[in-house]
Amino acid sequence: MPIRATRLIRKMRGGAQAHLIQAEDGEFYVVKFTNNPQHRRILINEWLACAFLRYLQIFVPDTTLIELTPEFIEDSPDLYLSIGTRREPVPSGIHFGSRLAVHPDRVAVFDFLPDKLLGKLENRVDFLGMLVFDKWVGNADSRQAVFFRARAKHWTPLKGETPPRIGFFAQMIDHGFAFNGPHWEFQESPLQGLYFRTSVYDQVRSVDSFQPWLDMVEHFPVEVIDSAWKEIPRRWLDGDEDALQQMLETLLKRRTRVPALLGELQRKRATAFANWR
Ligand SMILES: Nc1ncnc2c1ncn2[C@@H]1O[C@H](COP(=O)(O)OP(=O)(O)OP(=O)(O)O)[C@@H](O)[C@H]1O
Ligand SMILES: [Mg+2]
Repeated sequence: MPIRATRLIRKMRGGAQAHLIQAEDGEFYVVKFTNNPQHRRILINEWLACAFLRYLQIFVPDTTLIELTPEFIEDSPDLYLSIGTRREPVPSGIHFGSRLAVHPDRVAVFDFLPDKLLGKLENRVDFLGMLVFDKWVGNADSRQAVFFRARAKHWTPLKGETPPRIGFFAQMIDHGFAFNGPHWEFQESPLQGLYFRTSVYDQVRSVDSFQPWLDMVEHFPVEVIDSAWKEIPRRWLDGDEDALQQMLETLLKRRTRVPALLGELQRKRATAFANWR
């Protein structure tokens, strides 16, 4: 069920020109629009990637369909996309919302953390699972995350013992360029998906350090893909049904490719994994 937008807060940085919006449930969402300058398919990529990542127990934002009513658009003169010198209006209807895990006025959300704090991240292992995922889906962008202080909420045993205290968490965001963004194909460039601060990979000793995610991807259930696919608003697809189906079939076939892709990355950029022997 879509949730209605109630208040425009501000525009965010980034090529998709997402906006921070409060919705009728009182929560805050970074919303990407169907007519964003990257491509309409970006919304589908975000939706699918977040659903798959939840199955892999990697910390990602909750995702929601956000409805912009004609009244909301009329009451929000600052809501538009900048295309060159032109102001492009955002259409009413259903858009993609990525929910902030914390209240933006009360808790600082950082795009980057210094290495010292990265070393103390409670869910640092998520970066290993994330690299497995990014290789699998051929993420053409480098890895992006946001960081904030919180108490462990969605902890799973896979990450180790539940941290008892408040600490820094990384939440994985921006999956618009999974499946090579608008192209829905898999280009295998060795460095893609890598996080620029490679200290997050310090615990990697060999390709086996990427378990259990390698196994989970290799046996990734078709049902998880199907149910995420069914939730995609038909308006986002707009004639892309066959192309999407084909892309997802290729994705299933690629489930066993990841160890080879990680090996290739290690050969090309050995410094990424300081402790790989
Ligand atoms: N769920 C979220 N919680 C907190 N902040 C978020 C969330 N999603 C996005 N952001 C913030 O919004 C910014 C833009 O989001 P995102 O990187 O997904 O957009 P983009 O336009 O695709 O960026 P790029 O130009 O890197 O492709 C991020 O840099 C981040 O600061
Ligand atoms: Mg981004």
